[in-house]
Amino acid sequence: MSDHAPDHAPGHATDAATEHADCGGCALDPDRRAFLRTSAAAVAAALLGLGARRADALAPLAFTRARARRGPARMYGIPAKDGASIDRDNEVILVRWQNAVYAFALSCPHQNTALRWLEADQRFQCPKHKSKYRPDGSFIEGRATRGMDRYSIKRDAMGIAVDLDTLHEEDKDPAGWAAAVVKI
Ligand code: FES
Repeated sequence: MSDHAPDHAPGHATDAATEHADCGGCALDPDRRAFLRTSAAAVAAALLGLGARRADALAPLAFTRARARRGPARMYGIPAKDGASIDRDNEVILVRWQNAVYAFALSCPHQNTALRWLEADQRFQCPKHKSKYRPDGSFIEGRATRGMDRYSIKRDAMGIAVDLDTLHEEDKDPAGWAAAVVKI
């Protein structure tokens, strides 16, 4: 009798005549009932989207251009004047400079630190090791060994389409890097 008590929800009939009506006389041994409870909890967790993926879902996102969040091209309007704007959600820097538009990865090519645009100096600088870059992404000085990484871009009726799946590294793909520009 006392063996059943913990398994019954509040309000479950405890009358001797009805106590076993829906559990077959509680033919299950304690281990079997414990197994079923565990299984039910696992199913509930799965339905709620918890379980093994929970840690991943709750872990902070590391800053990396390799983050798996790519997809169709991102559309941007053509900047009205020379300068840089940063789309942090997509880790893209859009630059208009001397009748050309570029789209760069936000991360420094040296160790992936987020680059900064210095408006007063009209250039980029990495806050970590101070690498400097011109507005077109070309390397000036510092620990980096190449210019800022450029995304493939093209102009269409909607503006500037940036292909987040195609990133050109100047040292490995100089032709692709040089071609990643829209003249305006
Ligand atoms: S991370 Fe940018 S120069 Fe080192």
